[in-house]
Amino acid sequence: MSVDSITLEEFEAVQNRGSSPESEPTFGEVVQQRLGRRNILRGLLGTAAIAAFGPAVPLPDGIADAAAQAAPAAGKAGKDGFSFVFEEIARGVDDHHHVAAGHDADVLLRWGEPLFADSPEFDPYKQTADSQLKQFGYNNDFTAFMPLPLGSSSADHGLLWVNHEYTIAELMFPGLVPEGQDRYAPEAITKEMAEIEMAAHGGSIVEIKRGKDGKWAYVRGSKYNRRISALKTAMNITGPAAGHARMKTKADPEGRTVIGMMNNCAGGMTPWGTVLSGEENVDGYFMGKIDQTHPEQRNYDRMTIPSPFYQWGRFDERFDVNKAPYEANRFGWIVEIDPYDPTSTPRKLTALGRFKHEGAGVHLNKDGHVIVYMGDDQKFEHVYRFVSKGKFNPADRKANMKLLEEGTLSVARFDADGSVTWLPLVHGQGPLTAANGFKDQGDVLISARLAATHLGATRMDRPEDIEVNPKTGRVYVMLTNNDDRAKADPIHPVQAQVNPANPRPANSWGHIVEMLPPGDDHTASTYKWEILLKAGNPADPKTGASFNAATTANGWFACPDNCAFDSMGRLWVGTDQGNKWQWTSGDADGIWAVETEGPLRGTARMFFRVPIGAEMTGPSFNPDDSALFLSVQHPGADGVEKVTKSGGRATFADPGTRWPDFKPTLPPRPSVVVVSRKGGGPIGV
Ligand code: FEO
Ligand code: CA
Ligand code: CA
Repeated sequence: MSVDSITLEEFEAVQNRGSSPESEPTFGEVVQQRLGRRNILRGLLGTAAIAAFGPAVPLPDGIADAAAQAAPAAGKAGKDGFSFVFEEIARGVDDHHHVAAGHDADVLLRWGEPLFADSPEFDPYKQTADSQLKQFGYNNDFTAFMPLPLGSSSADHGLLWVNHEYTIAELMFPGLVPEGQDRYAPEAITKEMAEIEMAAHGGSIVEIKRGKDGKWAYVRGSKYNRRISALKTAMNITGPAAGHARMKTKADPEGRTVIGMMNNCAGGMTPWGTVLSGEENVDGYFMGKIDQTHPEQRNYDRMTIPSPFYQWGRFDERFDVNKAPYEANRFGWIVEIDPYDPTSTPRKLTALGRFKHEGAGVHLNKDGHVIVYMGDDQKFEHVYRFVSKGKFNPADRKANMKLLEEGTLSVARFDADGSVTWLPLVHGQGPLTAANGFKDQGDVLISARLAATHLGATRMDRPEDIEVNPKTGRVYVMLTNNDDRAKADPIHPVQAQVNPANPRPANSWGHIVEMLPPGDDHTASTYKWEILLKAGNPADPKTGASFNAATTANGWFACPDNCAFDSMGRLWVGTDQGNKWQWTSGDADGIWAVETEGPLRGTARMFFRVPIGAEMTGPSFNPDDSALFLSVQHPGADGVEKVTKSGGRATFADPGTRWPDFKPTLPPRPSVVVVSRKGGGPIGV
């Protein structure tokens, strides 16, 4: 039987639907609930499960003292006192990328770029897994510039870390989609294709240099260049869940090593020169069906595992939950990688919890504890904070490498009085006991989402990147969107409720929440919070958007996703509207400069935009802000039916654009772009 392949849009619709209930039942209630759930699924209860929606909770009043505490961002003031100096570009959508006048935006690394002396040149018609393992991977996301040598502040020479989040078979493999169609049959994916996909996942470490002409180039054959993949790279499992019974498999009876990482979305950089990379939508790699009586069933349901977007399980039983019921517990972690040592083994950090990790916003607290802020990107999921047990020692890199293996993970509850309370995910505290299915700390971390719900964590509108302003110490949470609060869901009928930190019932545009640690202490158990802005077109009252009135018609955006602070403490926000861009704005994603202080707080201006069908990911700066690295992910792919020749979805033969090569025989290639100011100097100054 030939079944149409699941499209990316369909996969996203399924796995973004949300699986977080309002509260977690005790084990004693689970059997009864399962019976009820089956009945609901069979339609036996019909419309009986209708939510009794409570009244919307009003927004907290502005926290007046918050703005007064903050130091103004450094840098000279530009037009109208805006702290960024550039002429805003016009919104729109076309085949090309665009950057503000006075800047260059050059393509630095493309999918398939040969990284080693013996790498084959990119040829999508002859691609093999071996070739892909020696080439730049697909769908680049998070980037991080690591100066060379280690410990220097070199702004011209360094290593670029790049995440390769996922692959799109119909844009990678010529002939996979039959002519005149826009989908492929799953059985058309061969073992070789699946292995190419695994090889194109993971990350790249690439030495890069700025020449005398001011242009950046990568160093082919550098001793530092490395590909981390889902196919070959062995990783160590560290922290409280290492060696746990639920981490053991036939191939790894010790539960301490795993091959590969996947769906690495955003990430972070540590003060000791390592990279943190977040495994996000790991559910899409698993097929098969786990029995409803299997002990992992609740955990897997909450992670929407399996959601078979990929066919890997046909060729490697690790990705079939029937055959390897614990393999999926070994994915969904933050991975720490040392780019300065090409022989180092990446480590999965179980102390930071298992969920659909977006990024890892690292902050060195004033007392030396290392803080990591993390978003779990699915509708109704949560915001997390990790505080290391030990303290950073600038003279002991080896000891610092252990700092993220032990500490306290907490989850945020945002209250109507403007406070955030951090609820610790510690075994034995509160409801995190054996009676609720948590026999030890490993259980708490492997099933972090279930633990967070037991603790009463706030259900958010898809938390993506979280970053700390280096000048003010305030923390910024990108909430990308969630239009499901307004819908009655028969499985989770109460999820329609809004809450103070997520106030819009049909939030298609996202918002940005600001968290304020008291006295700049990021270990405090309570912070304050407020909303910096609600995204969407402020000229359309239906959106409920709230930008500063100084924002122009080009300056508003939808669906904040990744963000970065430059060293002056100025916020740059990237967007991902997904396949709904024609409804959320009608214009391409991009980078916007956002004022966080003073009378222009909440003003945004458009700086860069991506070609049609792409998503803007991975913004990061070099140490003197003279280079801004950006990831243009899946160009020509998302929501391009209006521009393909067939009027259907993008395929290898018929994509939405052939950016950046524009050769009729080449497909679009996800690429890293580097932005520089003409004549040099910091971006946007
Ligand atoms: Fe991979 Fe949440 O974006
Ligand atoms: Ca993202
Ligand atoms: Ca996103």
